[in-house]
Amino acid sequence: MIGNDIEIARKLLVSGQVVAIPTETVYGLAANALDPQTVSQIFIIKNRPTFDPLIVHTYAWEEVKKYVLDIPTQAKELVQAFWPGALTLILPKKKIIPDLVTSGLDTVAFRIPNHPLTLDLLQRLPFPLAAPSANPFGYVSPTKAEHVTQQLGDQLAYILDGGPCEIGLESTIVGFEEGKPIIYRLGGISREAIEERIGLVTVRPHSSSNPKAPGMLKSHYSPYKPLVLLEEGVASLRAKQDIILAKAGVLAFQKKVLGIPDKQQFVLSEKGELTEAARNLFEGLRFLDSLQVETIYAELVPDRGIGRAINDRIRRAAA
Ligand code: TXA
Ligand code: MG
Repeated sequence: MIGNDIEIARKLLVSGQVVAIPTETVYGLAANALDPQTVSQIFIIKNRPTFDPLIVHTYAWEEVKKYVLDIPTQAKELVQAFWPGALTLILPKKKIIPDLVTSGLDTVAFRIPNHPLTLDLLQRLPFPLAAPSANPFGYVSPTKAEHVTQQLGDQLAYILDGGPCEIGLESTIVGFEEGKPIIYRLGGISREAIEERIGLVTVRPHSSSNPKAPGMLKSHYSPYKPLVLLEEGVASLRAKQDIILAKAGVLAFQKKVLGIPDKQQFVLSEKGELTEAARNLFEGLRFLDSLQVETIYAELVPDRGIGRAINDRIRRAAA
């Protein structure tokens, strides 16, 4: 079932069921974060390995304090600046957070999402919600309720429809090692915005040997069709044989590529705005994946602000 009834969602969650919820970043697959039994359903529905920990969502800072041990000063500054919002903080956890949620790590990821329906829902619940993105493991995240319906609809009791996601990219994940802030995943809040508040941060997305943020596996965010970077420039694509062009889909930043059929192309932002491009990115990948094309060619966007997170997702999809 799909709808915008918070009470239906609340009752199902209280009775131990999994419900899809809207956030400003992407849709989440939510369950009672304090109940391992229910949380295990999330992993089953997503087909997600249990070594990939979940993000816990709540509505107030006072709530977060119930579940974490100590909080670095810089974390507090980020909370002040960006919550509710597209920022996830990794903090040392208390025992009450089940090991399944954190994949056995002694830290937990927390976020206060900025979506009116979900904030309202969270306030009505006596527990926080563990929620990964509401897509099958390894596929791009859903930015509309219908994306969730298409892929996971028959496995879910309810999809809370909060409209299209405002940001369209997952949250930025920040943790602390020996007191130093580290960005583990680029996302909705830009590195620049974070550095304006707390000074220089290290950006260290997943290394394949030791994934600190396991969801950052290189191939994450892939569409099912092979995706190739259009880095060498449009010219090199045009130089390829006609037969290849006829079977090419293009994810373009501002302008369509000459020589490829119009209907096989998706433009992220005609105005060249990075926030608009971010909002359209996953929709674009889904669209191109649904076409009768063999390969998706994706253009990188300017590497600043949220553009860095867009490029991160495109590069991972190409891996
Ligand atoms: O915007 C978002 O963050 C969305 C919405 C639903 O809030 N959620 C989301 O969840 O993107 P998911 O499961 O797709 O990504 C969660 C990632 C994990 O893959 C892992 O990389 C990281 O968060 N994570 C969670 N707990 C962690 C921990 N204790 N230490 C390091 N990384 C952690
Ligand atoms: Mg995900």
